[in-house]
Amino acid sequence: MHYWKLLALIFVPCLIAQEPAFTPGGRGGPNQGDKGITAAIAGAKEDPAAFERGAKAYAANCGGCHGATGRGSVGAPDLVRSLLVLDDEKGILIAPVLRNGRPDEGMPKPNLSEEQIADIVAWLHVQTYSAGHRSTYAFMDVLTGDAKKGEAYFNATCKGCHSATGDLKGIGARYDAFALQARWLQPRGGRGGRGGASPSSNKPVTVTVTLSSGEKISGTLDRVDDFSVSLRDSRSDYHSFTRDGATPKVEINDPMKPHTDLLGKYTDPDIHNMTAYLVTLK
Ligand code: HEC
Ligand code: HEC
Repeated sequence: MHYWKLLALIFVPCLIAQEPAFTPGGRGGPNQGDKGITAAIAGAKEDPAAFERGAKAYAANCGGCHGATGRGSVGAPDLVRSLLVLDDEKGILIAPVLRNGRPDEGMPKPNLSEEQIADIVAWLHVQTYSAGHRSTYAFMDVLTGDAKKGEAYFNATCKGCHSATGDLKGIGARYDAFALQARWLQPRGGRGGRGGASPSSNKPVTVTVTLSSGEKISGTLDRVDDFSVSLRDSRSDYHSFTRDGATPKVEINDPMKPHTDLLGKYTDPDIHNMTAYLVTLK
């Protein structure tokens, strides 16, 4: 068991008693609440400054529908109990919802910068932590889904790339349910990456750089930002280029991109039905 989980088990019962969300600033000097906030931020391993900014951004953009404390209201779900929020690691599940909204389901696309999204994610993590759900979640049975519905979803969404009798055969025997859920949600790492399959099983991100002379250099992406890109070619030689706007041309091919794009589409039941199904692939 992780040390912080142990701590959480000790602290959380006192925190649950005070239902209101932790908001920054406190109300009039040092009191139990302030200590609670500090403990919850530390426990959730979030940056206090991000939490403070996130509280403001949440109040301005989300509270009207999801409630001031994130516990939902008529027509908008409880985010503190949302399995999608509980499953989230570093915003990987929440961010796509905040980038695009769910316009067809009653959540318009919010107008947020990536920084604001990260801040709101930090605020949400502290809320779920302080309510005790994030720490107890690891011990809950993740198999609350319906395997039949999971199978139907698999056939509709995943079958183009995977097969239950091919590459994913036996996956339910290789991981416990919790690791398996992390594995299909975040095949490149996240929680499932730890103590899991060898990194070499992940197909690398490749890149092709086209110089102004027309020469093309391709290989495995080392790193890329607005100012430079570097790669290793098939002979493991290292190449690094300075970028200036669109020069040189940089084409990145991430085999996991379709996977990452799917993250924004899963609902809570989808996640749990899918895990319940994958567990049956023994
Ligand atoms: C106009 C009302 C409205 C606003 C504003 C709004 N939401 Fe939502 N949100 C919803 C509704 C309705 C759903 C349920 C959509 C569905 O059923 O898929 C939802 C779903 C979500 C989910 C997915 C929960 C789950 O378990 O699947 C998250 C996370 C979320 N909202 C976060 C936010 C955050 C953070 C903000 C502020 C940036 C925000 N929402 C603003 C109405 C809203
Ligand atoms: C566009 C293709 C594509 C789609 C669609 C797709 N995946 Fe994947 N998936 C991949 C690739 C590529 C990998 C990485 C495989 C590797 O590392 O060898 C992967 C990895 C995985 C892994 C990890 C396998 C392991 O052995 O650890 C699981 C589990 C998984 N996907 C499940 C799913 C599920 C469930 C869906 C549907 C909701 C889905 N995938 C949709 C391409 C896809």
